[in-house]
Parts: sequence; C-alpha cells; structure tokens
Amino acid sequence: MASIRILTGSVYGGALLTARKIKQEMEQEGHQVTVLENPVLEDITGNNDALLICTSTTGQGEVPPNLLPFYMALRDQLPQQPGRPFGVIVLGDSSYGDTFCGAGDLMEEALYETSARKVGDTLRIDALETLEPEIEALQWARQWINGI
Ligand SMILES: Cc1cc2nc3c(=O)[nH]c(=O)nc-3n(C[C@H](O)[C@H](O)[C@H](O)COP(=O)(O)O)c2cc1C
Repeated sequence: MASIRILTGSVYGGALLTARKIKQEMEQEGHQVTVLENPVLEDITGNNDALLICTSTTGQGEVPPNLLPFYMALRDQLPQQPGRPFGVIVLGDSSYGDTFCGAGDLMEEALYETSARKVGDTLRIDALETLEPEIEALQWARQWINGI
C-alpha cells in the first residue's frame, strides 16, 4: 500500500475536486492519501511519500496562486529528492494554445531539478473535451500508483 501526497493548484475548484476524488477512491483501496490545498515546502521535506501534482493552469500558462508559493520555494531552494516518485495531472484548456497545461510543465521542470523521478506520462485534461476531469484522473491514477 502506498502513501501519497497530492499537491493541488486550483482556481475554480476543478483540480481540487479531482484530488479529493482520487483520495476518496484510493483510500478505499487501502492507500494513504493526503490532499494539500495550500502546500508549503515542509509538506514534502518531512516525509518520503510519493508526490502527485494535481493542478490547473491559469494566467498565461501559470501555476495557480495557491500552489505558487510552493512552486517558488521549490525552485529557489531545490531540496534534493533523489529518486522520489512523482506524477503530474494538469487541467487546462486547449483554446489557450501554446500555454495549454503550462502549469504542469513548470511543476515537472522544478521537480526534475530536485532529482525526483517521474512516474508515468503527464495526464493533460482539456476542459474543451472533458467535463468530468475526475473520471479521467482516477483511471490514470490507478495505473500511476502501480508504478511508484
Ligand atoms: C483566467 C484564466 C486563465 C487560464 N489560462 C490557461 C492557460 O494559460 N492554459 C491552459 O491550458 N488553461 C488555462 N485556463 C483554463 C483552466 O486551466 C481550466 O479551465 C481548468 O479546468 C480550471 O481548473 P480549476 O477549476 O481547478 O481552476 C485558464 C482559465 C482562466 C479562467
């Protein structure tokens, strides 16, 4: 059974709802899941849980305000996390063109800088195509958890 920390970034609540749904389902399957709504760096440095980023994209490919302090601290301090598994679920809207799901790319880059180990391909959920991101995300998360 796995211990997972979900770091959420959300403006309108879709990514947060998605993270909560994953927690609900995964806990029923015996995993331990913590959802962080306003994560700070200390939330990840004091433990070895697998990290799951579940964020939407705002601005022009930017990280939502509630995840931004974590992102900035991660980039500035680069606490080394060699081999620590992480995954990325990112919500976006393909009508934004080049910045589609940009927040996921930013988080991925910052985590790679800490030597963390990415598990699975980033799940990009397009608001133009999907009204229920949590359904896609759950399917993906079930596979992801097998790789951590
Ligand atoms: C002001 C604003 C800016 C956005 N900018 C982007 C963007 O640059 N790239 C992208 O892929 N999606 C962008 N989106 C779309 C959101 O990421 C998408 O609607 C997402 O599902 C919202 O999730 P949330 O409910 O967790 O905030 C933007 C949405 C808004 C309202």
